[in-house]
Amino acid sequence: MTHQDELKQLVGKAAVQFIEDGMTVGLGTGSTVKFMIDALGERVSKEHLSIVGVPTSDRTREHANSLGIPTKSLDQVDHIDLTIDGADQIDRNYQGIKGGGGAHLLEKVVAINSEQNMWIVDESKMVDKLGSFPLPVEVVPYGSRQLFERLAAKGYNPVFRTNGDQRFTTDSKNYVIDLHLEQIDHPRDLALELDQMTGIIEHGLFLDLVNTVIVGHENGPEVIH
Ligand code: 5RP
Repeated sequence: MTHQDELKQLVGKAAVQFIEDGMTVGLGTGSTVKFMIDALGERVSKEHLSIVGVPTSDRTREHANSLGIPTKSLDQVDHIDLTIDGADQIDRNYQGIKGGGGAHLLEKVVAINSEQNMWIVDESKMVDKLGSFPLPVEVVPYGSRQLFERLAAKGYNPVFRTNGDQRFTTDSKNYVIDLHLEQIDHPRDLALELDQMTGIIEHGLFLDLVNTVIVGHENGPEVIH
């Protein structure tokens, strides 16, 4: 296991200690969340925890179910107590970029419907300013070429995400365009601008959403509320 994976596993294990019997838990997507689900599966089987998971992707649902964690879709639950998810970058103000795994649409829908949101990251994800990680934008396939050109004209350096020689498609059958911005000076302004562009379904700026961040360091997990 790489050092980064060790830190991801560390925060995954730390996060499941916040899950209590009877909770409905939003389950994010990604390699860090995968470690968290492994640890949650262990608690469910050893402690007979009765929880329901609300997955944010097909792969998360399949992984959770394979470990005996029951899942429901968001529409089947009244509320979500806590959602635990990864992130691609988190800045000093705890604003984030998500969507490296292309799951940010469902992740954001689940996050805004959760009473509490927790992000789990290894320390490499903590940055002064967002933007060196490309900002994912999920777009409707129809007219995506024209939308791409509009993003290019704004100087946002768009790149269609691919999977081998195919265009990457999300669980909702949309495309992802990654914006190579290098630095995002005004995340709120950019979020508003992208929110208003027809054809964009959701972007990966997650602003004012998180309550707790667990950062994995060499000497242990740091919990920030
Ligand atoms: C998926 C995400 C992930 O949370 C993010 O990409 C972090 O992934 P990883 O834990 O694999 O580094 O937003 O859409």
